[in-house]
Amino acid sequence: MLWLYILLGCLGGAALIALFVWFSNNLITITHYKISSEKAPERGVKILHVSDLHGKAFGTDNKRLVKKAKKLAPDIIAVTGDIIHKYRPDDMAVALATVCWLSKVAPVYYVSGNHEMRSTRYREFKRELEIAGATVLDGEYREVCGITVAGVNCAKIKSGGYFSLCCGEGFNLLLAHLPQYIDKYALAGFDLTLCGHAHGGQWRLPFTHIGIYAPGQGLFPKYASGVHSCGNMRQVISRGLGNSQCPLRLFNRPELVMIELEKE
Ligand SMILES: [Fe+2]
Repeated sequence: MLWLYILLGCLGGAALIALFVWFSNNLITITHYKISSEKAPERGVKILHVSDLHGKAFGTDNKRLVKKAKKLAPDIIAVTGDIIHKYRPDDMAVALATVCWLSKVAPVYYVSGNHEMRSTRYREFKRELEIAGATVLDGEYREVCGITVAGVNCAKIKSGGYFSLCCGEGFNLLLAHLPQYIDKYALAGFDLTLCGHAHGGQWRLPFTHIGIYAPGQGLFPKYASGVHSCGNMRQVISRGLGNSQCPLRLFNRPELVMIELEKE
């Protein structure tokens, strides 16, 4: 009889672990930040930050994700790259459907990540993103809701492809996939930068915000999530929604970030 109790105990333990892993990878959490600035417009701006989807679907056409976005009622949606996975061509359909639905919630501004840059179909994908309703910021900027939103192609981050994009006396927001260049973004004069890429460290130590690994930063990365400061600039890093090399997240649920930019 003892063997039966041991077997049931093992099965129950395995089921609990499987449930925990499923929740860790499929339940979206929303993180709210308030950013105050003298340069912010009087009425403020609500920015929904979406990153590193990697073709993941939270329900058909990402309906669960879109429903959350709708509820948050953002003024703009900033997508900071790696919406696809470089080796999974099917991801493009999921990514395009998601952008299409998100663009019905609020104007979508997109910059590429390293996965789009490594895709042989990026040029075609960029056109399709625009048809789906996104504004692709590939070394460009737009005036939106009283602020300037600039975006840099991931391949041009190292060479400083954003230095000419900061302009005027108003509030300058930069969308750039890689977070580890924070000092350069600050040097370029931006007030706020939104980044992704690090996936929060992919696995995090339980009950802490300490991530294990991020590409480009190695073990225990400094820039993996949260809000960081460099001079007068703030940088918000999304933990992202999907997975790339490492197929599972642990203690690191998929994240949507809601930023309320307000007048100081
Ligand atoms: Fe990335």
